[in-house]
Amino acid sequence: MPHTLISSPLQGFTDYRFRNAFHKYFGGIDTYYAPYIRLNGKMEIKPVYQRDLQHKHNKGLEVIPQVMTCDADEFLFVIDYVQSLGYTELNWNLGCPYPMVTNRGMGSGLIANPEKIDHILDRAHSETDVTISMKMRMGYEEPTEILRAFPILNKYPLRNIGIHARIGKQLYVGGVDLDSFEKCFDHTEHKLYYNGDITSVEAFNDLADRFPNIDHWMIGRGLIADPWLPSMIKDDDADYPEDRMEVFSNFHAMLFRQFEEKLTGDKAIIRKMVSYWEYFEEVLPDAKREIKKLKKTKTIEDYDLALEKVFDVYD
Ligand SMILES: Cc1cc2nc3c(=O)[nH]c(=O)nc-3n(C[C@H](O)[C@H](O)[C@H](O)COP(=O)(O)O)c2cc1C
Repeated sequence: MPHTLISSPLQGFTDYRFRNAFHKYFGGIDTYYAPYIRLNGKMEIKPVYQRDLQHKHNKGLEVIPQVMTCDADEFLFVIDYVQSLGYTELNWNLGCPYPMVTNRGMGSGLIANPEKIDHILDRAHSETDVTISMKMRMGYEEPTEILRAFPILNKYPLRNIGIHARIGKQLYVGGVDLDSFEKCFDHTEHKLYYNGDITSVEAFNDLADRFPNIDHWMIGRGLIADPWLPSMIKDDDADYPEDRMEVFSNFHAMLFRQFEEKLTGDKAIIRKMVSYWEYFEEVLPDAKREIKKLKKTKTIEDYDLALEKVFDVYD
């Protein structure tokens, strides 16, 4: 079965700059979900979200915008906005686990509230012609919460439901709950996408063996921690290409250049790059010491010198 691989969004990481650099140097991803749009009570789309979705910033990429809200008017406002840019699908985030979000009844805090989900989906489907897809955890407190939401979700022509096989309360602690994920199949008429802890070709193959009826897979952190992963999964080959450090160096340079254009001051640029290195370091374990030094640099000059040392390890 051909597998479709989706970039599961990471707010603060997988914006258009990352997507373009990733697509150019690594590929293997079919569709990119954009990090969520959040309105915070005001009916306006922040410039940072606008830039992320503009077509001129996403040439040649299949991008699906995402929203996080528990308010029907906000939902309709964002639908209108993404449709004005030519998008036909909006993904709805019912997965975010952070208390600041869930305490307000959003993200995974909304899963246990099927009436509200019903109201929002009803308005979206009766007042617009957008296609909606879902990105959910299995609940906030319990993985059975999603089972009570499915009868509502079954009423609507959703494109798919992507499920991160954890509950909100867990945040990212503990493993994915594959038994609870499996139970979802019996309760939904919708197509399910799998998400959670796809970190290696081996992990992917184990999941694909266990869930032969899944052909869409969402990769979040694993894609930053190992940017070769999607293409290696597609090739079913766990060996890295020989020129991998050259490719990584070019990718890093493109990412760096874009943040250099956007941010002011060495510290801000380095801080941004260091947030990626928290992930990159996983795929470059032999350069642990050198990466630790790179993370402590304060000027771009020192960063560049430290970067060279990282690459030297793999020379
Ligand atoms: C820093 C961070 C930011 C995230 N931002 C989003 C987001 O904007 N939208 C979303 O649906 N999920 C978001 N997620 C969740 C991921 O998309 C994904 O569902 C989760 O990390 C599990 O998949 P993984 O194990 O492949 O990373 C975020 C996760 C992290 C760690």
